[in-house]
Amino acid sequence: MTQPLQPNVGRVALVGAGPGDPELITLKGARLLREAEVVIYDNLVGDGILDLCSPTAERIFVGKMAGQHTLPQEEICRLLVDKALTGKFVVRLKGGDPFVFGRGGEELDVLLEAGIGCEIVPGVTAALGAAASFGFPLTHRDHAQSCVFVTGHLKDHSVDLNWPALAQPNQTIVIYMGITGLDVISAQLQAAGLPGDTPAALIYRATWPSERIYPCQLATLPATARDNQVKPPALIVIGGVVSLMKADNS
Ligand SMILES: C[S@@+](CC[C@H](N)C(=O)[O-])C[C@H]1O[C@@H](n2cnc3c(N)ncnc32)[C@H](O)[C@@H]1O
Repeated sequence: MTQPLQPNVGRVALVGAGPGDPELITLKGARLLREAEVVIYDNLVGDGILDLCSPTAERIFVGKMAGQHTLPQEEICRLLVDKALTGKFVVRLKGGDPFVFGRGGEELDVLLEAGIGCEIVPGVTAALGAAASFGFPLTHRDHAQSCVFVTGHLKDHSVDLNWPALAQPNQTIVIYMGITGLDVISAQLQAAGLPGDTPAALIYRATWPSERIYPCQLATLPATARDNQVKPPALIVIGGVVSLMKADNS
C-alpha cells in the first residue's frame, strides 16, 4: 500500500501523533513528518509535535472541537485527495492512533478509491497514554482479564451501548468521547449490574502538561465531572484497575 497507484500522484501517510506528549510519537511517524511537504492535522495533536515538520512544509489545521467541526469530514477527505494529486507527499496527522475512533478508515477508503497510495503509521492511543501517565494497568491478573474501548458519542449524538456486555466483572472499560453522556453511562451500567462503588476515573488531556485525573466511583462519575467542570478531551475509565493508580493530581 506504500506505492502510489497512479504515476505522478503524491502519496499520503496517515500518522498517529500519540496522546499529546511529543515524545510519544513513533520514530517512523517523526521521520515521515520531517519528510512531509503538506501536513494536515487535528486539534488533538500535542504541542511541540509540529516542530518536527520541515520549515517549508505547508501546515493545514482541520481540527474539530466537540460538536463543532471546523471542516466537515468530506472536505477533509477532498483536501487530502487534492493535495496528493498535486504530486506532494502529504502527512495526515491525527491524535492518538488513526484507526482508533479517528475516522482513519474513512480517509483511507477515499484515498484508495482515488488511486492514491496510503501508508498507516500507528500511534499510542489515549487510553494507553492515560494508563501510563497515571500509573495503572489496563489489565491485571487480579482485576481485569479484558479491556474494552468504546465511544460514548454516536453519530446521532445518542449513547446506545451494549450495556450487559460492558457490565462484566473483571473488565476494564475505557470510554472515549463520553463526557456529555455521563449520566446515561453511569445509570445504564449500574442498571446492567455493575456495582455503583466500582472504581472509576475521569482523565483529562492525558500526557499533556495540563493533564488531570479525577478518581471517583461509577455512581459518582456525573457529579465528579460537574463539580470539576471536566471538559473534552477526556476519557472515562471504569474498573478495579483504577484502584491501582500510582499517581494523581490531588
Ligand atoms: C476523536 S477521538 C480520537 C481518539 C484518538 N484517535 C486516539 O487514538 O486516542 C477523541 C477523543 O479521544 C479522547 N482523547 C484523545 N486524546 C486524549 C487525551 N490526551 N487524554 C484524554 N482523552 C483523550 C477523548 O475522549 C476525545 O474526546
